Amino acid sequence: MPDNPRTAPSDVSLVPVPREITTEGTEGLVLDAATRISADQAAASTLTWLRRELGAATGLPLAVGHEEDARIRLSVDPTAGLGPEGYRLIVDVEGALVVGHDAAGVFYGAQTLRQLLPVDAYRSAPVDRGTDATEWRLPAVRITDAPRFRWRGAMLDIARHFQPRREILRFIDLLALHKLNVLHLHLTDDQGWRVEIRRYPKLTELASWRTESQLGSTEPPVFDGRPHGGFLTQDDIREIVAYAAARHITVVPEIDVPGHSQAAIHAYPELGEVGDIPVGTRWGIFEEVLAVTDHVLDFYKNVFDELIELFPSPYIHVGGDECPKTQWKNSASAQQRIRDEGLADEEELQSWFIRRLDDHLTERGRRLLGWDEILEGGLAPGATVMSWRGEEGGIAAARAGHDVVMVPTATSYLDYKQSESPDEPVKVGTLLRVEDVYTSDPIPAELTEKEAAHVLGTQVNLWTEHIDTPRRLDYMAFPRISAFAEKAWSTHRRDWAEFEPRLAHHLGRLDAAGVEYRPLDGPRPWHTRPGLRGWGEPGADADTTGQGPDRP
Ligand code: ACM
Repeated sequence: MPDNPRTAPSDVSLVPVPREITTEGTEGLVLDAATRISADQAAASTLTWLRRELGAATGLPLAVGHEEDARIRLSVDPTAGLGPEGYRLIVDVEGALVVGHDAAGVFYGAQTLRQLLPVDAYRSAPVDRGTDATEWRLPAVRITDAPRFRWRGAMLDIARHFQPRREILRFIDLLALHKLNVLHLHLTDDQGWRVEIRRYPKLTELASWRTESQLGSTEPPVFDGRPHGGFLTQDDIREIVAYAAARHITVVPEIDVPGHSQAAIHAYPELGEVGDIPVGTRWGIFEEVLAVTDHVLDFYKNVFDELIELFPSPYIHVGGDECPKTQWKNSASAQQRIRDEGLADEEELQSWFIRRLDDHLTERGRRLLGWDEILEGGLAPGATVMSWRGEEGGIAAARAGHDVVMVPTATSYLDYKQSESPDEPVKVGTLLRVEDVYTSDPIPAELTEKEAAHVLGTQVNLWTEHIDTPRRLDYMAFPRISAFAEKAWSTHRRDWAEFEPRLAHHLGRLDAAGVEYRPLDGPRPWHTRPGLRGWGEPGADADTTGQGPDRP
């Protein structure tokens, strides 16, 4: 871990790396108390963002100027030939000019500008370095840049472990720093319902808390004996959506149906097949699924209508994963539905259910997104597929002319272990090192160019069964997200040996921003303190993490 991260390998060390960069021999631009910033109307929100962030870090006033007297100028020019979300950034001794194809492009240009400064630019107040005072110098460069994929996402599961609103806002800032543009919020699961729905208040009154949580994944299970919960109000959601939008991030909501619905069934037992069941406390896949009745369909159409009001995202995620069919096989109403609709089996029954939601969302101008199980029993006409069980679902969907987002577990699941060391936190899945994230490619090799055009992009998934605090979230998310961002944004040939020193420098930015990432050379030492070995596993004392107990 660099403790003086200002020792960059060179002046210019960017993550994700831009398409074209030339460094000029001149001295660049020094920011000082006289430096003004200007922006045209279309770039105004980036002006506000840049002044706030750089103003805080540098302590400079960075006053708003006019185009004639400003040293940093931001503008939008859709005729500049930069492409969607693209930008050009030119720094010379006279000034820094950011031209974006669109407002997003200007924002990404400003993010790059911040990366050109010393890493202290990521602090929220100036650091006193005595006589070695930081010089806020931008090196002379000419950069032209645009993203490879239009979907560059991260999924955060706030159902298994809730993350407070302030942490979600901080996470959004970290995604924006990496030029990612989708935050997929997994809002419901067996173990909790995390979004206020005005029409159905019991979803949060009764289903946003559970009595305790499983520790690790042993058999028989061991529990922590402490309640866990929380939820986002509709005002919280509006704040998160607006905060993300100001950073050119779309928040995609997911309500997971018809499996993973124990919490909802606890709140409204008539949604299920077997009456009241508790909010889940164990991790895994469970038999308790939604009934496929008109009442249940109407209930969820009403839930999705409230989501549509809250989330401007063109895509609405309906889950669809891991839905066991046993209860439907034994259910008179499910079997009646199969007969009435002339369906072949329970797979087709699930498809029938998802198609009804697809119709509903399509009528409202939105697109249904679901995990790749929605392919089984026939894909709904408007569906976009998130391919997680390998690449096969994505390949099948793209060949059928559907859009896909590639999230295969082996390269995208950030709950997966980062090494085989006994000092890693609860080890699940297969080994997924930062270099594995970096070197894998989102486009399946089997696809033709035409089929590959259906790949909107890629995302990482942070499932939080074993991520119960922001510290643990940082540890699992970073720097794997930094490597992922380059894969999702950049077009250059990815070579780990070339990337590693740039990543090492980038960790200095994460240090300055206060991110407790996993160091490249091994687990953080606080994982190995007595009593903390294998945190999150049975026997580890959760209260010695420094997080304090988690009580209502
Ligand atoms: C999933 O990981 N169940 C989508």
